[in-house]
Amino acid sequence: MRIIRTANFGEMSERAAVLIGAQVVIKPTSVLGLATGSSPVGVYENLVKWYQKGILDFSQITTLNLDEYKGLAPEHDQSYRYFMNTHLFNLVNINKDRTFVPDGLQANTSHACSLYNATVHKYGPVDVQLLGIGVNGHIGFNEPSDHFEKDTFCVPLSESTILANSRFFDREEDVPKEAYTMGIGTIMSAKRVVLIASGTVKAAALKAAVKGPITPQCPASILQLHPDCTVVADEDALALLDQ
Ligand code: GLP
Repeated sequence: MRIIRTANFGEMSERAAVLIGAQVVIKPTSVLGLATGSSPVGVYENLVKWYQKGILDFSQITTLNLDEYKGLAPEHDQSYRYFMNTHLFNLVNINKDRTFVPDGLQANTSHACSLYNATVHKYGPVDVQLLGIGVNGHIGFNEPSDHFEKDTFCVPLSESTILANSRFFDREEDVPKEAYTMGIGTIMSAKRVVLIASGTVKAAALKAAVKGPITPQCPASILQLHPDCTVVADEDALALLDQ
């Protein structure tokens, strides 16, 4: 694991965007694994800015998103499809037909998961996977558990995740209770991983991920075994790790 220490959220976002942007330049047909949440917002702002300046071309890029809330329509303003459209896809020259997010409206769980697995296997492996980290160490929506999941699955969200994500919804009871997520096996099969973290709220999870035992109780800890994982984090998020 390589760690890039940054002063703040803005610097973290720019450094991580350089890693994603370089991938787009070096291989214009790349498959990008993308994440949602507040952490990657600044990364996408930089990518959009560099697209507008003519530095980046997304016309041949394919994207595979990590996860989606079960039950939310693509038009719902808290769905991850909506997030991706508004923060990146609508703002660059990507072919929307090559952007993939699990189908939150597919009520048949096993069908939803096998459909997304088929997409992942058709277009993967991911060249570079962007990841945030939950306060409980989750990646995608792989919550702490007694085992690591391999493929896409439907996960009941933990109380801490529902509470953390309730800041985006009008009321806590509006947060969906389940989500579809890529499994750890799929995340680990990405050729490169870039994990971003900002703020003291992520410090304990980041310490457990980087220095703790490799355990499904902290799903991000599996990244210690990834051959090419870069953590880009600000000082607050790194506060509990040794210099
Ligand atoms: C969500 C997403 C994750 C994200 C995490 C952290 O639940 N499923 O992909 O990394 O929460 O979110 P944030 O960046 O807003 O702290």
